[in-house]
Amino acid sequence: MGWLTRALVTACILVIVHGVVPRHCHVDEPCFPSNNELYQFSRTLDGGVLFPSDQLYSKIIVLHNVVYTKFPIAVAVALTTEDVQKSVLFARKHNLLVSVMSSGHDYNARSTAHESLMIYLGSMNKTKVTLSSTRNPAGEMTCESGNTWLKVYSELTQYGRVIIGGSAHTVAMGGYTLGGGHSPMSRMFGMAVDNLLEVEMVTANGSIIRADEQGTTWVNDDGTTRRTTDADIFWALRGGGGGTFGIVTKFTYKLHYAAKGLVTFICIYPILLANKTNIGYDVLGHIGNLIPGLPKEWGGYMGVAYNHDTTADTYGTISLFLNHYGTWDSPSRSYVDQFANYKPELQTYCQMKNVSTFIDYEVTARDPPIYSTALLNVLMQNDSFTKDWVKFMIDKVLYDHPIQESSISWTGTLLGGKMQDVGIHDTSVHPGWRSSYMSLSGGVGWNPGNGISWDKAVDEAKALGDEQIKFGYGMYPNESGPNVTNWHDNFWGSNYKRLLEIKRKWDPDRFFYCSQCVGSDDDQPAHVPTHGHIGIGLGGLGPLG
Ligand SMILES: Cc1cc2nc3c(=O)[nH]c(=O)nc-3n(C[C@H](O)[C@H](O)[C@H](O)COP(=O)(O)OP(=O)(O)OC[C@H]3O[C@@H](n4cnc5c(N)ncnc54)[C@H](O)[C@@H]3O)c2cc1C
Ligand SMILES: *[C@@H]1O[C@H](CO)[C@@H](O)[C@H](O)[C@H]1NC(C)=O
Ligand SMILES: *[C@@H]1O[C@H](CO)[C@@H](O)[C@H](O)[C@H]1NC(C)=O
Ligand SMILES: *[C@@H]1O[C@H](CO)[C@@H](O)[C@H](O)[C@H]1NC(C)=O
Ligand SMILES: *[C@@H]1O[C@H](CO)[C@@H](O)[C@H](O)[C@H]1NC(C)=O
Ligand SMILES: *[C@@H]1O[C@H](CO)[C@@H](O)[C@H](O)[C@H]1NC(C)=O
Ligand SMILES: *[C@@H]1O[C@H](CO)[C@@H](O)[C@H](O)[C@H]1NC(C)=O
Ligand SMILES: *[C@@H]1O[C@H](CO)[C@@H](O)[C@H](O)[C@H]1NC(C)=O
Repeated sequence: MGWLTRALVTACILVIVHGVVPRHCHVDEPCFPSNNELYQFSRTLDGGVLFPSDQLYSKIIVLHNVVYTKFPIAVAVALTTEDVQKSVLFARKHNLLVSVMSSGHDYNARSTAHESLMIYLGSMNKTKVTLSSTRNPAGEMTCESGNTWLKVYSELTQYGRVIIGGSAHTVAMGGYTLGGGHSPMSRMFGMAVDNLLEVEMVTANGSIIRADEQGTTWVNDDGTTRRTTDADIFWALRGGGGGTFGIVTKFTYKLHYAAKGLVTFICIYPILLANKTNIGYDVLGHIGNLIPGLPKEWGGYMGVAYNHDTTADTYGTISLFLNHYGTWDSPSRSYVDQFANYKPELQTYCQMKNVSTFIDYEVTARDPPIYSTALLNVLMQNDSFTKDWVKFMIDKVLYDHPIQESSISWTGTLLGGKMQDVGIHDTSVHPGWRSSYMSLSGGVGWNPGNGISWDKAVDEAKALGDEQIKFGYGMYPNESGPNVTNWHDNFWGSNYKRLLEIKRKWDPDRFFYCSQCVGSDDDQPAHVPTHGHIGIGLGGLGPLG
């Protein structure tokens, strides 16, 4: 790495986070590895190490949320679990801040940090399908963390099986699964964490473990193993969040038999008609009333968005984008007739279709290549879909834009069904998930051309989020803003206490740090490194000047 880059990186350190951020070695300190040490390290990895002068470096560090680009000192490209292990040991030796990235989809940039050694898992994309498994009748699939969901779905289709993954094609296994993971089929088969059978992980002290519900297997350097009955870490990884307990290299999930056929249902209404009649209150009220009763075979999304249809001269849309697990003649299919038959003359579009596989539904989803959106989230409960809530949604989306030049839109992922069969403490996700009917995520988007700052959008999203949380119980950390009020409670509720104990046990030095992650503000005295500037630290949070 050249001097220029180092100077640039150092000059960027404008944010001083309070003392809770663990201290790490900075580029201008003696503890920092020399160029030669970095070079020697890069030679030990199968995947090599990228420095700022490498073209690929720039490609990896630019996040999908473009607001948050940061500059790690180097990117360790892991191809194997041993590469990850070596990177952790190197970072520990030099007391470097580590950031962990699978896809770089984290809305709040927790997968990158200035001056960090980024451990990049995006090239670890091997998979293995095992159809005859003693653990699960329909078999299992092991995916390295860098796989994206569309790749996994495509590979599975030939086996007549489905897996619980995200709707976004480019989201990866890592952050998605560790944060909980909802899917268009979660009402049928639960969350990603409910379908997780086993993980392989590199611990904070550089050991390789395999963990499942029964215990933990430690892999010794010579390849021999040692089994314990400690199942804490597996519990913590089922919802406790990425980037904080260890680096998961492989995830093994349950598979499910594919349905004989599926039905999709897409229905769209305008909110404000050309003659200025607002039908949004009625339409959303009607949808809200029907959601808690939806059969588990139906899953998918509800959207409430601001837009102007210039042809029809209408404003706003309320849309349903649903899929039914099972053929047309299943009794559960006709439930959505109650949507289809509601004010049909006012619908912009409404159609039910037969499709043969999940991927036929899934390919129609479109990932935004980049976004600059500040998020807010709430887990909606059976009593959340009130008149007040309807008014809140329609008024915000249409009339009270949080900031003049911005807009807000919501995506609600339908929850419930099988997700409610899992106990509130069986996994570490917020208990609110187990009684929830919808994970409602709002995004404040704005036009940077109008000079509105990202900070402003974040503040507005935060204010809206504080208002919105009163309708439900709990928030999805992976679809929330960067600075959430009462985040311990809102993200994990009564599971936080045990998560923190596990964090203290598995990472007593707080080697893994990300903002608003379990233990990120832990003030219990931890191991204090002998080097490092007091009071200066860099977290995964915050726009840098
Ligand atoms: C377009 C889009 C669509 C989405 N759709 C869905 C959806 O359908 N369902 C849903 O539940 N969520 C969805 N999300 C949210 C998604 O769950 C999160 O963005 C998730 O964190 C992405 O994980 P990642 O590994 O791809 O991202 P990254 O940014 O690479 O990682 C996210 C976080 O996890 C950590 N991390 C990543 N990999 C590992 C690992 N192997 N071990 C330890 N820590 C790790 C990172 O350090 C970071 O803190 C969507 C997000 C986007 C942007
Ligand atoms: C899988 O990762 C390798 C690098 O390890 C890469 O060359 C390849 O394009 C990836 N495959 C997909 C489908 O992303
Ligand atoms: C990490 O800690 C565990 C348990 O304390 C120990 O068994 C293991 O050897 C340690 N690993 C390394 C690489 O030091
Ligand atoms: C507005 O248009 C709708 C749909 O055409 C109609 O039902 C409604 O009566 C109209 N309202 C007014 C005030 O004209
Ligand atoms: C879907 O297929 C069933 C037969 O399996 C048929 O009765 C039904 O009309 C089809 N629906 C559509 C919209 O094509
Ligand atoms: C709503 O859920 C609560 C607790 O989760 C339950 O006690 C109550 O009976 C439910 N109400 C309805 C109308 O289903
Ligand atoms: C999901 O939330 C957890 C906990 O805050 C965090 O570890 C992980 O990085 C998050 N990902 C996103 C997209 O916020
Ligand atoms: C987070 O929100 C609080 C108000 O709840 C505010 O005082 C603080 O400045 C915010 N921090 C950041 C980094 O935006």
